[in-house]
Amino acid sequence: MSPLSTIAVRAARAAGDFLLRTGERLHELRVERKGPNDFVSEADREAERRIVEIIRRAYPDHAVLGEEGGAQGDVGSHGARWIIDPLDGTTNYLHGLPWYSVSIALQIKGRLEIGVVYDPNRNELFVAERGKGARLDDRRLRVSQATKLAGTVLGTGFPFKSNQHLDTYTETFKAVSQTGCAIRRAGSAALDLAYVAAGRFDGFWELGLQPWDIAAGVLLIQEAGGAVADIRGGQRYMETGNVVGGGLRVQRALLDTIQPHLTAELPA
Ligand code: IPD
Ligand code: CA
Ligand code: CA
Repeated sequence: MSPLSTIAVRAARAAGDFLLRTGERLHELRVERKGPNDFVSEADREAERRIVEIIRRAYPDHAVLGEEGGAQGDVGSHGARWIIDPLDGTTNYLHGLPWYSVSIALQIKGRLEIGVVYDPNRNELFVAERGKGARLDDRRLRVSQATKLAGTVLGTGFPFKSNQHLDTYTETFKAVSQTGCAIRRAGSAALDLAYVAAGRFDGFWELGLQPWDIAAGVLLIQEAGGAVADIRGGQRYMETGNVVGGGLRVQRALLDTIQPHLTAELPA
């Protein structure tokens, strides 16, 4: 593993272990509301603080974009920027549901180079390095080789923080669910994408995500031989947050199923 990946893994494990311990005294946690159905706890903030501390100690001149702390530092001539979701699946976490993750990615000059997703409950560490593949612990990951949607298991996320895209999403859900697949809404987009990389989910789609939800998971899927696109089939998923990923044939079939239901105002 490269020195950069070693730091990403150390930071992800530190945050995940902290979240796991803190989850034992959930009732003591201070929780604030960021928006409709959107909560942040002191656990999210402290996990991010620990991640940033580890990264900054090793790479003081790298920029950071964290969900809770926002943008810190300048993307200098090296162009390095870490994209962090310290706790992906806050709703699950605050309800004691053991399905959440830590997501850390490194972009250099706008290109994803490292992606790490850590599931502390199952002690599973997903690591992708550009050009070197994706791994779950010591095992090389490979996306699903399914050729059609019937019989697949797909991950998704429903809009729940705002009703933005709700009508469009509902139409896509209806179309996909009529293909004979099974659909799961687990509650951590980063972990869903890691599961696609591992071939546990054949594919995934969601609208309105943020860069920190998807950066690490996108590289995991790509390095596991899969495809990721925005909802219109282009490469603007980091800007729009509208993501369709999967094994090559499944991702194509998902796009073909979803696209007839998109409204003109939905960005790519
Ligand atoms: C959320 C989770 C969820 C997805 C939401 C995200 P958070 O992230 O990834 O699965 O449906 O859109 O915002 O707020 O728990 O970090
Ligand atoms: Ca998130
Ligand atoms: Ca989060």
